[in-house]
Amino acid sequence: MAIRKVGVVGCGLMGSGIAQVSAQAGFPTVVREVSANALENGMGSIRRFLEDGIRKDKLTQAGMDATLANLSGTVELGQLADCDIVLEAATEHLGLKRELLGALDRLCKPETIFASNTSSLSITQMSAFTKRPERVIGLHFFNPVPLMKLVEVVKTIRTDPVVLQAADAWCTAIGKTAVHCGDSTGFVVNRLLVPYMLDAIRVFEQGLATRDDIDDAMKLGCGHPMGPLLLTDHVGLDTTCYISEIMFDEFKESRFSAPPLLKRMVMAGLTGRKSGRGFYDWSTHPPS
Ligand SMILES: NC(=O)c1ccc[n+]([C@@H]2O[C@H](COP(=O)([O-])OP(=O)(O)OC[C@H]3O[C@@H](n4cnc5c(N)ncnc54)[C@H](O)[C@@H]3O)[C@@H](O)[C@H]2O)c1
Repeated sequence: MAIRKVGVVGCGLMGSGIAQVSAQAGFPTVVREVSANALENGMGSIRRFLEDGIRKDKLTQAGMDATLANLSGTVELGQLADCDIVLEAATEHLGLKRELLGALDRLCKPETIFASNTSSLSITQMSAFTKRPERVIGLHFFNPVPLMKLVEVVKTIRTDPVVLQAADAWCTAIGKTAVHCGDSTGFVVNRLLVPYMLDAIRVFEQGLATRDDIDDAMKLGCGHPMGPLLLTDHVGLDTTCYISEIMFDEFKESRFSAPPLLKRMVMAGLTGRKSGRGFYDWSTHPPS
């Protein structure tokens, strides 16, 4: 089964990136938002990203025009009915996703594949919101979508292997590398990354090393592009805390539990880059 037409639900941070890379790879792509205003915001960020690409000589004007010609926006879910795959990148809320998948299941042709970009919810649970659980998978992209190469392709106990093959082929066609993974909270990347970030906070909390020494140790000793505390500031301390709570709930292992310092910093509003202060002060000199 070939994927020709693509639907994306949600044109926020992730949905706009997914719609962009899909259209840029030549797929007719329809993106749905809840309001004209939200749609315009998402489309605006796609246009700005493409314009930036032209300024940096990474894209031609013709390339930008071709991408935009493949892309259409709508507030009507019914416009996605004839898509071969619909990627759901709406707000991370189970009730909302239940409603969306139920509606898409009624509207879309029987062959349409549903893929969720969720970071923390169960794909198996979402598949049960439809009458086609064998056609529901996770396609977990990374931010910023146009730049990050990886997609975690998440299968459930019921996923049809043909659906996985089609998803793999589409990921390759949009220039991404797919890794396969079972449906378990955090998939592969967050399963490994989140305990690492939490351990770095524990080392700092226990006074074993300073912030800069922890970050320098992992940069210079392991060749990481940035240290774990700076990375946590980028991800957001609130997001890190939220994900760790969900992972702890699933695995009941202490390595996934949020250190008290992380919880206190979130309570104090020190959520990292987005709030101007986390482990670093972003208000004056953004850390390098
Ligand atoms: N932010 C990340 O780094 C990241 C990374 C990987 C996966 N994700 C996942 O991607 C999904 C989206 O996250 P985001 O960061 O883009 O959030 P976001 O808040 O930037 O965007 C979500 C968008 O969904 C829209 N939306 C809500 N209900 C909708 C509906 N019924 N129909 C259409 N659009 C609807 C909202 O208006 C909003 O624009 C979440 O499931 C999240 O877990 C996020």
